[in-house]
Amino acid sequence: MGTGRSPIQLFRLLLLSGFLYQETIKLGSCNGNLDVGCIEFERQALLEFKEGLKDPSDRLSSWVGKDCCRWRGVSCSNRTKHVVKLDLHNSNHEDYYYSSNKSSLGGEIKPSLLNLKHLNYLDLSNNDFGGIRIPEFIGSFKKLRYLNLSYALFGAEIPPHLGNLSSLRYLDLTTVLSFDFDLYVNNLQWLSGLSNLEQLKLVLSVTSPTKSLVLDVRSEWIPLFRLNYIEMMNWQLGPTFPAWLQTQKNLTSYLVLNNVGISDIMPDWFWKLSLQIEYLDLSNNQIRGPIPHNIHEMMPKLELLDLSNNFLNGSISSSVFKIKNLNVLVLSNNHLSGELPHIVYMKNLEVLQLANNSLHGKLPPSLKKICGNLIMLDLGDNKFSGNLPTWIGEISSKLRILRLRSNLFSGNIPRQLCLLSYLHILDLAHNDLLGLIPSCLSNLSGMINEDIMRIYIYNRGFFLSTESMEVVTKGRELEYTGRTLTLVKSIDLSSNNLSGEIPEGLTMLLGLGTLNLSNNHLTGKIPEKIGSLRWLETLDLSRNQLSGMIPLSMTSLTSLNHLNLSYNNLSGRIPSGNQLQTLNDSSIYFGNPKLCGPPITKNCPGDATSEGPVPVGNEEAVDDDGFEMFWFYVSMGPGFVVGFWGVCGTLLLKKSWRIAYFQFISDMKDWLFVLIAVNMAHLRRKIELKRN
Ligand SMILES: *[C@@H]1O[C@H](CO)[C@@H](O)[C@H](O)[C@H]1NC(C)=O
Ligand SMILES: *[C@@H]1O[C@H](CO)[C@@H](O)[C@H](O)[C@H]1NC(C)=O
Ligand SMILES: *[C@@H]1O[C@H](CO)[C@@H](O)[C@H](O)[C@H]1NC(C)=O
Ligand SMILES: *[C@@H]1O[C@H](CO)[C@@H](O)[C@H](O)[C@H]1NC(C)=O
Ligand SMILES: *[C@@H]1O[C@H](CO)[C@@H](O)[C@H](O)[C@H]1NC(C)=O
Ligand SMILES: *[C@@H]1O[C@H](CO)[C@@H](O)[C@H](O)[C@H]1NC(C)=O
Ligand SMILES: *[C@@H]1O[C@H](CO)[C@@H](O)[C@H](O)[C@H]1NC(C)=O
Ligand SMILES: *[C@@H]1O[C@H](CO)[C@@H](O)[C@H](O)[C@H]1NC(C)=O
Ligand SMILES: *[C@@H]1O[C@H](CO)[C@@H](O)[C@H](O)[C@H]1NC(C)=O
Ligand SMILES: *[C@@H]1O[C@H](CO)[C@@H](O)[C@H](O)[C@H]1NC(C)=O
Ligand SMILES: *[C@@H]1O[C@H](CO)[C@@H](O)[C@H](O)[C@H]1NC(C)=O
Ligand SMILES: *[C@@H]1O[C@H](CO)[C@@H](O)[C@H](O)[C@H]1NC(C)=O
Repeated sequence: MGTGRSPIQLFRLLLLSGFLYQETIKLGSCNGNLDVGCIEFERQALLEFKEGLKDPSDRLSSWVGKDCCRWRGVSCSNRTKHVVKLDLHNSNHEDYYYSSNKSSLGGEIKPSLLNLKHLNYLDLSNNDFGGIRIPEFIGSFKKLRYLNLSYALFGAEIPPHLGNLSSLRYLDLTTVLSFDFDLYVNNLQWLSGLSNLEQLKLVLSVTSPTKSLVLDVRSEWIPLFRLNYIEMMNWQLGPTFPAWLQTQKNLTSYLVLNNVGISDIMPDWFWKLSLQIEYLDLSNNQIRGPIPHNIHEMMPKLELLDLSNNFLNGSISSSVFKIKNLNVLVLSNNHLSGELPHIVYMKNLEVLQLANNSLHGKLPPSLKKICGNLIMLDLGDNKFSGNLPTWIGEISSKLRILRLRSNLFSGNIPRQLCLLSYLHILDLAHNDLLGLIPSCLSNLSGMINEDIMRIYIYNRGFFLSTESMEVVTKGRELEYTGRTLTLVKSIDLSSNNLSGEIPEGLTMLLGLGTLNLSNNHLTGKIPEKIGSLRWLETLDLSRNQLSGMIPLSMTSLTSLNHLNLSYNNLSGRIPSGNQLQTLNDSSIYFGNPKLCGPPITKNCPGDATSEGPVPVGNEEAVDDDGFEMFWFYVSMGPGFVVGFWGVCGTLLLKKSWRIAYFQFISDMKDWLFVLIAVNMAHLRRKIELKRN
């Protein structure tokens, strides 16, 4: 009868069984029917953590009730019921730019989180913590294997305490470019502690050059980790190639050292690092030397090769074109010379950018063969010569962007060009092309659709960087940066020797946003139906010999924000009304002695005498920068919401924009690029100056 036990012993037993019962519940080993899923003090910790957060869209509304394991974003171990995973990333991709849309979490990260001692996965990415520092205590999660704080708008110095995370395998500290705060480190010693690290993404936004980003990694540093993925951007690792890379023999996917200050000749060991590398991006450094002539043997798996914005010289070896799976090849802005190699077949190439080198010679017919899947061909700013080949139309039925500007191409524009029916951007400016503008351009159906070509900057940690491509519009070469950017469709044939009339058929390209035919020898009238191009934002017909009246239909170009008709032989009254009314800079009509009426001072016959000279332009359009800002503000107006600028939102104009990755959605409606923004601080400052 158990009489041997004293009441005290019984009491203890009772206590013990009670305790055991509780523990059993805590441990969750009883089956899920009981409503007891989660460990109470972890639940309390989560609640306290929630209290610190700002959650305007009530994303954590499920964080009520007993079973915290069922709360959104919380996962528990099935066995122990400890919270092991906290995934609070914001999946609304647009949020960063459309900050009015608040599905981001923000506020404070309370140290109560530390009570989740078994946490091995923490993802706070893509939220908005408003520039607060990453809490030091995050370094105390002993079991953490995955830490993702990317795009969460943390600021200030990355706490070296993160080096205590000895179980960590994935570390992602990518930051999106921010106007307001920098995330930076003062040295990289703490990385030494991460002996199990496999993937490292340290992409920092650098808006302030005064911040020290020099990494104190000595040349003899031998890291304990063997990474398979390295993505570093906007650090000062240079000037030499970081020797510790030589220990990283397990690289399998990404090796990105973008804008890290290397100004070295590429060492031999670099190319022998790993046969497995798929994405190699060394752009935006000052790397010198030639591209190895057996690159296809040393890095045979490359899908992306971006060496743009360096000082590479020598010729482009045919070895590059022997890399079987190469998708994106970007060698722009180097000192490469010589002719294009007579090339081997490369069926996977989608992006080929060789702009701004000193390449010369004719386009080799083999180009037609390598390019079956090409989406973008950018050979601008070189010394290519000869006629535009007739096979240009057969290059790739998928071609969206053809940029051959600033070369020495001569002869006629071949009609075959019109076969490129998906073309969105045709830029043949600054060559020696002559003859007529082919009327078949009206067959470029890619320019007819009013679908918008959209560009997203790289923002999902998926890093593929390709070189900058400038689209010339709004009177100067601008660099566009930003999260989402809609590219206008454009035709630029300016600064050639084209003659004859502007084909009426051009007015059928209803989606056209930019048309620049300036500086040619075009004659005849401005097509009467020009007004049907309702998305047209930029129209430059200056420096030709166009005659006749300015068509009245111009007043229906409601998107127009840049017009230039100067230096022609136009006559009659300048039409007014709608958008045209706002373009009151008289200089856009200069050099047409027979034009009359506002905004120029000359009255039309029969008009009352003028009340004085019309001011030239808007006050804000006076200085150079002001001019840009003028367009910036104008374009933010309601008339443009659907158009280019409306989508751009907060971003904008910089000296050149960089495409980080093109993700071409096969559905023709939405062509997505993923772009990387480089540095908007400059613009930001300008905006602020303007406001003050
Ligand atoms: C718990 O079990 C469920 C169903 O068996 C499974 O889907 C889930 O991944 C498990 N969770 C963890 C953290 O292991
Ligand atoms: C705001 O977020 C919701 C989803 O959370 C989305 O449906 C909506 O389109 C977003 N609005 C904007 C302007 O991004
Ligand atoms: C974590 O790292 C910091 C800085 O590297 C160090 O000062 C601290 O002692 C470490 N804490 C623990 C618990 O290891
Ligand atoms: C390197 O990769 C190999 C094969 O994938 C693997 O067996 C090895 O453990 C890796 N080494 C390190 C240090 O991670
Ligand atoms: C490349 O530049 C180096 C100097 O940086 C020079 O010595 C070399 O001759 C150049 N090679 C070619 C092919 O121009
Ligand atoms: C062309 O490259 C040079 C450096 O090689 C650079 O200074 C220049 O700005 C580049 N031009 C354009 C239009 O990008
Ligand atoms: C435009 O394309 C159609 C068929 O797609 C063709 O019949 C016509 O000749 C082309 N027009 C010009 C001017 O090339
Ligand atoms: C971190 O989060 C971002 C955004 O949610 C995601 O795109 C990225 O792939 C994540 N990084 C890793 C290493 O999983
Ligand atoms: C049109 O092209 C000319 C010559 O290339 C250039 O000077 C002008 O700025 C361009 N116009 C616009 C609006 O971009
Ligand atoms: C333009 O073309 C005409 C022939 O159509 C030629 O006589 C003239 O020299 C060319 N001008 C230039 C600047 O190339
Ligand atoms: C219009 O074009 C002329 C000649 O190409 C140029 O000098 C002038 O600056 C342009 N005006 C505007 C406002 O872009
Ligand atoms: C200018 O246009 C008029 C017709 O408006 C024409 O008679 C004249 O020949 C043209 N002049 C030039 C230089 O093209």
